[in-house]
Amino acid sequence: MTDFKSAKKITTHTLREMKEEAVKISMITSYDYSLAKIVDAAGIDVILVGDSASNVMAGHETTLPITLDQMIYHASSVVRGIKRALVVVDLPFGSYQGNSKEALNSAIRIMKESGAHAVKLEGGREVKDSVERIVSAGVPVMGHLGLTPQSIYKFGTYVVRAREEEEAARLREDALLLQEAGCFSIVLEKIPAVLAAEVAASLKIPVIGIGAGNQVDGQVLVIHDMLGINKEFQPRFLRRYLNLYDEIKGAVTKYIDDVKVGDFPNEQEQY
Ligand code: KIV
Repeated sequence: MTDFKSAKKITTHTLREMKEEAVKISMITSYDYSLAKIVDAAGIDVILVGDSASNVMAGHETTLPITLDQMIYHASSVVRGIKRALVVVDLPFGSYQGNSKEALNSAIRIMKESGAHAVKLEGGREVKDSVERIVSAGVPVMGHLGLTPQSIYKFGTYVVRAREEEEAARLREDALLLQEAGCFSIVLEKIPAVLAAEVAASLKIPVIGIGAGNQVDGQVLVIHDMLGINKEFQPRFLRRYLNLYDEIKGAVTKYIDDVKVGDFPNEQEQY
């Protein structure tokens, strides 16, 4: 079995091999240099510069407001922090839905200006032409089906998608279409685990889940959620590995107290 941990660089080909050898793929979001550096040193396979930056970095309610320029800024900061991980960048809302030429131009800007390795976009049959055009220009594309947050105003809610057979059938078809169009991988967000398992088993390309159960080829989480920086977001699929909100608040409170009572800096901390 291949030793993927010692791989110097993770590529889209590495991910395909990992699927073939049934080695799970780890993916997490990052939006800045310092966290990306830590995440990469920990050995993550894929870093997603998600448009969730719109929520967790900028405080917007949805992912819709973030711009292509802002995504490029986040992505180039991440790229400067990594040595090994594959960096995938979300094409933001409004930068690809117009037509495939617009999609290609946006993907090219991301690749040229950030140094990232791949782009991700949301949707199925409606983005097939764009996927084909971007891939034919040599840019790897990751798909995203199920709950697609850029369409939140169409869905009206963030509940689990594709519970009904009609929507599940459409998702199965879309997943196959995206594979045929040239996607190297697909994210499935917030769909029943049984459906996600079926799709993963039917595709040659790796399927990465978020709220899609364990029988897929890898998992992705938003870093602010899994570190517990963001306390308000509590979906069932989220496992919190730290409670950084309280840790950071506690440390800053202590710093404020130390400054106020004149305990910081002490003699060793001055020149
Ligand atoms: O933007 C993002 O963070 C994402 C993940 C939730 C998959 O698209």
